[in-house]
Amino acid sequence: MRIGLITGGGDCPGLNAAIRAVVKHGHGTYGHSIIGFRNGWKGVIEGDVQPLTREHIRNVLPVGGTMLGTARMHPHRVDGGLDAVRATLEAERVDALVVIGGDGTLDAASKVAETGINVIGIPKTIDNDVVRTDTAIGFETAVQVATEAVDRIHTTAESHNRVMVVEVMGRSTGWIAVNAAIAGGAELVLAPEAPFDMDRVERFLRHRHRAHASFSIIVVAEGAVPAAGSSMDYTTELGQFGEIVSGAVSSAVAHEIAERTGFDTRVTVLGHVQRGGTPLPADRILGSRFGVAAVEALQAGRSDVMTALHGESVDLVPISEIAGQVKQVPEELLRVAGALA
Ligand code: F6P
Repeated sequence: MRIGLITGGGDCPGLNAAIRAVVKHGHGTYGHSIIGFRNGWKGVIEGDVQPLTREHIRNVLPVGGTMLGTARMHPHRVDGGLDAVRATLEAERVDALVVIGGDGTLDAASKVAETGINVIGIPKTIDNDVVRTDTAIGFETAVQVATEAVDRIHTTAESHNRVMVVEVMGRSTGWIAVNAAIAGGAELVLAPEAPFDMDRVERFLRHRHRAHASFSIIVVAEGAVPAAGSSMDYTTELGQFGEIVSGAVSSAVAHEIAERTGFDTRVTVLGHVQRGGTPLPADRILGSRFGVAAVEALQAGRSDVMTALHGESVDLVPISEIAGQVKQVPEELLRVAGALA
C-alpha cells in the first residue's frame, strides 16, 4: 500500500509523534511506502511531496510543530481543489490519505472522502474542540503552558495588587481557559460556553478586593463573549479561517474593569506560545497511539473514519460526523471553575 500523510490547520506539539508512528508502523511493520505532502492540503493540491522513511523520522519525537509543515487551506474551498487532490493522489499512486488536523482539516477530509478517496483522520487541536473524541493531540501541552503562565502571573499580580487578565486560545470553546484556571487557581474564567456579564465581573472583583485580597487573575478564552443585552459592548471579529484577533477580548475586558473599578489592570496574551515547543509525554503518547491506530485501520480495510480516544481505548468514528460540530466544555467543569473562584 502507498500511504499519503498530511498535517493541516494550526500546528501543535505531538504532531511529529503521530507522523513517526504512521511511518514506523506502516513502513516498519507492514512494509507500506509512506509519502508526506508539505503544508497540509496545499501540498496535496500542488503535488508538493516528500518521502517518509525511518531515516526522516529519526529524533522527531520530542520536537514540537510538524516536520511536514502546515497551512490553513481547504480543497473544497479552492476552485478545482478537489479535482487537484484527486489528480495528485493518482499521479503519486496513493491508496489512502492519513489526515492529521482539527475541525477544519477533518471537515475537508470528509469532503475528500465523499469523492471516493480512502481517508483516515487523526484529531489534533490545542483547543480540544473536535467532537467524538475525549481529547486531541496538543491539548495537554497547551494546558501545561497556560497553567505555568497563570502560576507565574500569580506572584507578580500579588506583588503589585493588580487585576491580571490572561488570554488563552480557544476560539469557540474554553477548554484551555477552564483547565488552566482550575489548575492555576485563577479567580475567574471567561469562556465562550458561558457568555459573561460585566456587571457581575465588576461586583465579584469589588467584593474580593474589599473582603479578601487586592489582586485577581482572570483567564479569558479568546472566543469569550459578553452575554446578549449585557452592559459591555464587544463583538468578536473573525478572520478568513475563523481565527480570532489575538488580544481583542482581553483588552476590552481589562479596559472595562479599569474604567469601572479604577483597579490597576494588566493584560497578558499567551498566543502562539501555547502551540510551540516540546510536547508533554501525554501528547507524544496520544500521537503515537493515534498513528498506530490509523495504520491498523487501513490494514483492516477501513476508510472515512477518525481515530478517537474514549476512556482507556482508541477506536474509530465516522469522519462525516465531525464536520460542523464543536465539543464544548461540560457544565460540570464550568461549575468546578465557578465553585473555586
Ligand atoms: O485552531 C487552534 C487555534 O489555536 C485557535 O485557538 C486560534 O484561534 C487559532 O488557532 C490561531 O491560528 P493562527 O495560527 O492561524 O493564528
